[in-house]
Amino acid sequence: MSTQPQFTGYYHADIPLGVEDSEVTRVGPRTPCGELMRRYWQPIALSAEVDKRPLPVRVLGEDLVLFRRPDRALGLLHRHCLHRGTSLEYGRIEASGLRCCYHGWLYGLDGTLLETPLEPANSPIRKRARLGAYPVRECRGLVFAYMGPPDRQPEFPIYDTFTTSDTVFVNAGHHFETNWFHLVENNFDMAHTVYLHTIIPGNAQFYDSWGVLPQMEYVETPIGYRYTYSRRVEDCIWVGLEDIVFPNFTQAGAIFSMDGRRPRYFGRGSYSRWLVPLDDFNTRVFVLGHFNEHSDPYHEEYSRPDNLEVMEAGARLARTYEERQREPSDVEAAGSQGPIYLRTNEHLGTTDKGIALFRRRFKSLVRALAAGTEPVQPAEGAKGPIPTCAGDSVLRIPRAPGDEDEALVARVASEVMAIYADTGHLPESERRRQAEARLVELERSHQH
Ligand code: FES
Ligand SMILES: [Fe+2]
Repeated sequence: MSTQPQFTGYYHADIPLGVEDSEVTRVGPRTPCGELMRRYWQPIALSAEVDKRPLPVRVLGEDLVLFRRPDRALGLLHRHCLHRGTSLEYGRIEASGLRCCYHGWLYGLDGTLLETPLEPANSPIRKRARLGAYPVRECRGLVFAYMGPPDRQPEFPIYDTFTTSDTVFVNAGHHFETNWFHLVENNFDMAHTVYLHTIIPGNAQFYDSWGVLPQMEYVETPIGYRYTYSRRVEDCIWVGLEDIVFPNFTQAGAIFSMDGRRPRYFGRGSYSRWLVPLDDFNTRVFVLGHFNEHSDPYHEEYSRPDNLEVMEAGARLARTYEERQREPSDVEAAGSQGPIYLRTNEHLGTTDKGIALFRRRFKSLVRALAAGTEPVQPAEGAKGPIPTCAGDSVLRIPRAPGDEDEALVARVASEVMAIYADTGHLPESERRRQAEARLVELERSHQH
């Protein structure tokens, strides 16, 4: 009698590990994905990192140098001098620009070659040569650059949560040694919070309410997605909302300090994140924390303006191998997929619906641009700041009998999302007034 082999490693060992999905992974100049990324403003540094010395930065596979003139204007230049290639990170900042340390060639903010001091006065080089430069601007302590075609420069996107006056903004940048698309998918994957952040560390990272698989619903918008992740928590329904804006911006609600057990009406975005490819194998996640009474409630250990999101900051990035094995976090989960994860060999499940949706739509943008159709910009069509829906609402709604509760949670989540979306065009205080009233009414309508 023949038996089926149970241990099949031998048969699988030479199966190729998959094929790279370069349409989403390769971000260098002239790559299809790199072209799409270059159509949007991207954060490239923290304002605090740009001091009296030039700052070398790498973005989308390009080596650049960022500097601040004495009049505080910022310049972003290709890093290597046009003369014989010395890095301008060793240059000297002067009133009109950045001077190469080797033979003194001087560059203006827009890359104009202003001086070639050792050359004859009538040298034609200055007229011929021009260094690559990109426009930059600052917002809430972050420096942004636009690296696309000059005639396509879009309006700078300002989201509504960046404009509230009672908010303390804190920013940070974290380096991940992995392809940027791993981190985008991690962001779209709320299911991972159950194991990675709750069950595996034994509730050490988030509240135990996160240990229940949320129901997830995705709604397409012209610029990305809004999605809800909702859970039954005792006699409450907790609806979290997140905004995803193409190509790499997300805004989330509360992460660390909510347990979903107390009513909360119209909680707002707590963290904005940009997942910026430095090159094909390295990513920098820029974080802007919004601290106010409607964002993530303060938490002594995890959520304070002076200790922004400690989970992804120093404490969780700089740990021993043993600590990382014992209590892995996003950096271990997404980073260990490899420098570039080969997606064709994976087995997507039902909880990966959001990932599949995002991939499909992202690729359609890449392909459309390659065929000549420009992507919709975040600020397009917005009159004033761009409305966001990220946040949390917790409504005290009694459990429905048996299997019906799941459908009740889903229904409430859709209604909550509609309230956030419908009020997006209003000024913040009026929006809050209307949204809170509708949420309270929604809660009331579900009392037996
Ligand atoms: S290499 Fe820069 S001036 Fe010569
Ligand atoms: Fe995570």
